[in-house]
Amino acid sequence: MSAYSKTAGLMARGAQFLGSEYAILCGAMSWVSERNLVSAISNAGGFGVIACGAMTPELLDTEIAATKAMTEKSFGVNLITMHPQLFDIIAVCGRHGVTHVVLAGGIPPKGSVEAIKASGAKVICFAPTLALGKKLLRSGADALVIEGMEAGGHIGPVSTSVLAQEILPTLAPDHLVFVAGGIGRGEAIAGYLEMGAAGVQLGTRFACATESIAHPKFKQAFFRASARDAVASVQVDGRLPVIPVRALKNKGTEAFTAKQIEVAKLLDGENLAMLEAQLQIEHYWAGALRRAVVDGDVENGSLMAGQSVGMVTREEPAAEIMTALMQECETALLGRVAA
Ligand SMILES: Cc1cc2nc3c(=O)[nH]c(=O)nc-3n(C[C@H](O)[C@H](O)[C@H](O)COP(=O)(O)O)c2cc1C
Repeated sequence: MSAYSKTAGLMARGAQFLGSEYAILCGAMSWVSERNLVSAISNAGGFGVIACGAMTPELLDTEIAATKAMTEKSFGVNLITMHPQLFDIIAVCGRHGVTHVVLAGGIPPKGSVEAIKASGAKVICFAPTLALGKKLLRSGADALVIEGMEAGGHIGPVSTSVLAQEILPTLAPDHLVFVAGGIGRGEAIAGYLEMGAAGVQLGTRFACATESIAHPKFKQAFFRASARDAVASVQVDGRLPVIPVRALKNKGTEAFTAKQIEVAKLLDGENLAMLEAQLQIEHYWAGALRRAVVDGDVENGSLMAGQSVGMVTREEPAAEIMTALMQECETALLGRVAA
């Protein structure tokens, strides 16, 4: 019998779908979610997800092979829908027999869900609203993630608690819905499971695990930060729709405002098409995150972090974080039953 029988009961559907012991995903984090963290999460009973980001098909091929060499447990691959070689990287996943593909960054382009399913993999999509969630399920998504604005990285405008109330009662009885954004402890997991979630996805809480290859200075910045330091970027020009990013305040935050003004000026002079302008912004983020995570430039790089960062106080092995989350969740569920 599981040491966490109440939790295991509520997580059963999600865990069966993921092929993992616990229905806890470590959301893909560009530059952070590579072979080491992904395998550590899966080996600890959770579900690791490789962040493909802007990787070439060749690099993704290497990363998947290396992850497989480090774990026999199931894991997924996160693909960004605007990747210029989306169908090539889907094919790479297919060749490796990847079991779960997470599509992030907007509505999946025509044919992409079908191409993933043809390889035998399950498709997980982000649902920003109830209506879009229904549409994604009709289009073939096998599971949804709903992610609130408390999360680290690119965010939507609505909080996790409101999304959960709007979406879970309608979709969770018949579909698999995972909740993400702002989860730092197991008590919150218990709450969402009781509302019908199939499981949860966390990023910030796992970013500084011992196995994470993030630079020590990146990790130190997380340990020092509190919830209010993780702020959403502001949009400086109404014509340039920029998806907000939540990150720790630093010089890089100001530099992003300057970058937006620079790109908006190019739009003014009609020297730049809107799509190209948005792509420039996305490239900016990818480069800035790399600078912080890989190079340790915590002044000028992007320290993407969610509001749960205040609950990240030290380096811990992924397995210990997972045990703490499960224990807290189980205690909360038992407490509520006993009351
Ligand atoms: C440093 C960092 C990088 C991230 N990069 C990505 C990414 O490349 N693709 C993606 O779909 N989500 C990305 N995310 C979001 C996570 O996958 C996850 O959904 C989110 O962190 C969950 O919310 P939380 O941070 O409150 O736990 C990133 C988050 C962080 C903190």
